[in-house]
Amino acid sequence: MISRETIHIAIIVALDEQNAIGRNGGLLCHLPADLKHFKEITTGHCIVMGRKTYESLPKGALPNRTNIVVTSHSAENYPGCIVVRSIDEAMTYCKEEETVFIIGGGQLYRSSLHLADQLYLTRIHHTFGDADTFFPEISPRQWKLIYSEMHKSDEKNLYDYSFLHYIKRK
Ligand SMILES: NC(=O)c1ccc[n+]([C@@H]2O[C@H](COP(=O)([O-])OP(=O)(O)OC[C@H]3O[C@@H](n4cnc5c(N)ncnc54)[C@H](OP(=O)(O)O)[C@@H]3O)[C@@H](O)[C@H]2O)c1
Repeated sequence: MISRETIHIAIIVALDEQNAIGRNGGLLCHLPADLKHFKEITTGHCIVMGRKTYESLPKGALPNRTNIVVTSHSAENYPGCIVVRSIDEAMTYCKEEETVFIIGGGQLYRSSLHLADQLYLTRIHHTFGDADTFFPEISPRQWKLIYSEMHKSDEKNLYDYSFLHYIKRK
């Protein structure tokens, strides 16, 4: 069993105003500032992803991170990755880590939100009508916002967005 006494589980996600996170197996939009933010937060750490999220990565495993893919498929399909069958198995692999990052997608977020004690959310201040993958509802009774940083759109980032950091209430 995963013990939250010994390991911090952080979820990192970019979502629109309706909690949408993806469409047609890909992201909703290209937001370079968020990709930079994601890289800064996750570099040097273990990142855990569902099989479909791995398949959406344009260049495969992300550099300078331990990439862990959760799947029932066989390991040879995921070069540069540790392949596990469950979130429990991923956490066992990462047991020496202080913080492990769950990086998506929708199915993996849904089955790990109750285990997480931190959320790094990028709220994209827009609604993408054609999304097909969503993040679960975030209850303010359960989650406390401890940091927020709002950014306006610019020539590279077409939507306003906010970096938000929540911790789970005790
Ligand atoms: N906006 C964001 O921050 C963000 C981040 C990541 C992904 N996304 C988007 O999310 C979408 C993909 O999400 P998705 O929900 O379709 O797929 P997903 O969660 O990435 O992958 C689903 C697959 O992963 C495995 N899996 C997931 N949870 C599992 C669990 N608890 N136990 C065992 N296996 C598990 C299963 O693999 P097998 O079928 O192989 O057994 C399952 O079919 C894409 O559109 C992607 O771009 C968005």
